Amino acid sequence: MIFILSAIGLMVTFCVLSIYVAKASTADRVFSWDSKKTATPPGEGSGVPYLTMSVPEGKRWLDFTNHTAAPVGAEYDFTMINEGVGQLESWTLDMTFNENLIIDSFWNGTYEVSANTIHFTPDKNADFMKHLEPATFGAVIYSQRDLELTGYTIRGRLPLKITDLPVYYVLIVLILIWVIALSNYIVSYARISRLQKQRDRDLLIISQSIMTFTNFIDAKDPYTKGHSMRVAMYAREIAKRMGLSDEKSQDLYFEALLHDAGKIGIPDAILTKPGKLTDEEYSIIKTHTTIGNEILSNFTAIPEIRDGAHYHHERYDGKGYPSGIKGEDIPLNARIICVADSYDAMSSYRSYRKSYDNEKIISELQNNSGTQFDPKIVPIMITMLEDGFTEKIRTKYGAETDYFSSPVA
Ligand SMILES: [Fe+2]
Repeated sequence: MIFILSAIGLMVTFCVLSIYVAKASTADRVFSWDSKKTATPPGEGSGVPYLTMSVPEGKRWLDFTNHTAAPVGAEYDFTMINEGVGQLESWTLDMTFNENLIIDSFWNGTYEVSANTIHFTPDKNADFMKHLEPATFGAVIYSQRDLELTGYTIRGRLPLKITDLPVYYVLIVLILIWVIALSNYIVSYARISRLQKQRDRDLLIISQSIMTFTNFIDAKDPYTKGHSMRVAMYAREIAKRMGLSDEKSQDLYFEALLHDAGKIGIPDAILTKPGKLTDEEYSIIKTHTTIGNEILSNFTAIPEIRDGAHYHHERYDGKGYPSGIKGEDIPLNARIICVADSYDAMSSYRSYRKSYDNEKIISELQNNSGTQFDPKIVPIMITMLEDGFTEKIRTKYGAETDYFSSPVA
């Protein structure tokens, strides 16, 4: 957006500049001097077109025979120098003198005399004057006394080229900066897009690898089919509602998917045993936490993934396993997975009991808040029950199936 706005700004500035140049080129410009207002006429360094007048040595004489009324004769040389910007074109000149005068002869233009003034028009091929290039013309003039120039007015056009204006070069520099910035932006955008594609692909590989492994876990224990996926969905939603970043919430999804990875190392006979487990069998089941920690030891792309598997059976009061750590010593992802995992267990069918209804689950969550569960996470889980989020997940990922009486092949 900033590139579009700045491009529009540059174009508008360029158009305004072009219009200014076109108007200034066709407008008549006037450069005047009047001795009554300013004693010294403009000269070198004035920055405008100016006029000088001189009489060459030996070119003044007196003629009482033929010019009785105006006997002072002289050759007057005029020089105009254009110190203005660019070339002065189609110019004319009005000169005023201290005396009335008569013109005897002239060169390089035409002279119209009226009393003490001359209107001078240069020859057609000399009516333009380059910057600092003098234009000379002259006349033999008779008058009563020596002539003095008392004022003049130069009229002409000063066609501007856009390149005559300093602001044009400022504009060119700005356009160059704009082009360089745009090029950098395009290169950066392409690089970021490429990295984004690579990142998306990496994420897809991670996601699909984890899903494949999750299928292995769930295939080992058909009674809890879909469990890992549902826990992952609940855990991610809890993370979002706790205000964790999108990235953390997504990581929690993967961490929860693999929270029971250690079940791979538990004998099928124990995992799929219908009914109650013996104490020895239960102690073997418990080792899925440490086995999971081992299995995931090389999974460094999501560093906390091991904690989820290792500590999701720890209790907030320190009476859990395998380490017996408590409170906020238990990693946050494990505390979240613990609540999500327990909710899914309670809301799912088991071989030895039916699933709990919402009222019973809420009661269990509240009764165990601060002992088994993190008391900050329990209210979030309950809200997810009450607003229908968990119901949507259970419907989509099937928690109601009686897998015991209809085992999966
Ligand atoms: Fe577990």
